[in-house]
Amino acid sequence: MRPTLLQLLQLGLLSQCLSQVRSEAECPSNAGRLSLREARSPLTELHGRDEAKAMMREAVTLPLRMADVLDFERIFWRSAERKALLVSGPAGCGKRALAEAAAAEAGAQVLHLAARDAKTSDFCRTALSTSSTSKKPVMVLIEGLEMEPEAASTIGHCLTEVAREHQRIAFVASASSEPSSFLHPIELFPFGWVLQIPAPGQAERKQFLLKLLAQVSRVDAVWGSALRESAVDTLANLTENYTFAEMDFVVRRAFLRSSNEEGGRDPVALHHFEKILAETPAQSLRAYEQGFSGRRPVAFMTDTASVSEDPKKEKKSAPKKKKDGKDPMESIFGWPAHSVCT
Ligand SMILES: *[C@@H]1O[C@H](CO)[C@@H](O)[C@H](O)[C@H]1NC(C)=O
Ligand SMILES: *[C@@H]1O[C@H](CO)[C@@H](O)[C@H](O)[C@H]1NC(C)=O
Repeated sequence: MRPTLLQLLQLGLLSQCLSQVRSEAECPSNAGRLSLREARSPLTELHGRDEAKAMMREAVTLPLRMADVLDFERIFWRSAERKALLVSGPAGCGKRALAEAAAAEAGAQVLHLAARDAKTSDFCRTALSTSSTSKKPVMVLIEGLEMEPEAASTIGHCLTEVAREHQRIAFVASASSEPSSFLHPIELFPFGWVLQIPAPGQAERKQFLLKLLAQVSRVDAVWGSALRESAVDTLANLTENYTFAEMDFVVRRAFLRSSNEEGGRDPVALHHFEKILAETPAQSLRAYEQGFSGRRPVAFMTDTASVSEDPKKEKKSAPKKKKDGKDPMESIFGWPAHSVCT
């Protein structure tokens, strides 16, 4: 009997677990909660982005590396409850990659969870006990804050607990929509550092595609090198508004589609990509700008049935579109996003 797709998927998950001894928490038996692993330096998403890297370094790497953390925390006790970083940007733009790279530089472990699980998982205890038993720094990475904005206050409570124990623990929360669309200014309090990751620029997209194709080359040398650099350049131009994850998906489709009857692959050309791009429009960037929250549009909640049918209502509750070039955080909260902590 042939295995079903589900069985194959489970097998895949299982072998992933087996290959990562440390990550018991990622195995299917207790999936969806906390997962602890060594921070990895990720691969292709980190070209450029110097400003973002600098802030990550300040908020994550340097505090986690600090040898005399006790003295440091004693001096700066007033800001202990503000030391989390909030990173926002379209889904698939490398937010996690950036945070993990910063943690990897400090030799930290990453305690990873979805904001939805923040209330029930007791991640704070886990972070504290992990850091004290392993003697290694810990970065807590909480993803999808827009799905569960209340997690912001849970993070605040945890900062208070951590402040008492002087452990080397850093906090990063991430969101795939604009923070002002789902957090009230007061809820930003724990986030001394606020970082907005823009969609990748042309040079970043090109670099990403080149690295991705180089990775494909290791599996299929002919396919991976079929596009000349000028074609990659054009492809990078065509994928304006696409995130890394979306570009990855487009290349995945091209790779799959080129499979032929003989079990090999036909060479790929620019027009194949153009066709796929037409069928795979970019979404993350628009989703980021439109904002999302499970709780903010109270008008929606009382009458959920009409949410999609009543465009007038939708328009009213949707967050204002940002003006070009102007940082939305600046106009809303009165500070430039990158120097919130000064
Ligand atoms: C891609 O766009 C850049 C400007 O962003 C331009 O200079 C370049 O000629 C374009 N390349 C192609 C192949 O269209
Ligand atoms: C990207 O989005 C902008 C604004 O929506 C649009 O003007 C532009 O044409 C888009 N780029 C491409 C290559 O589709």
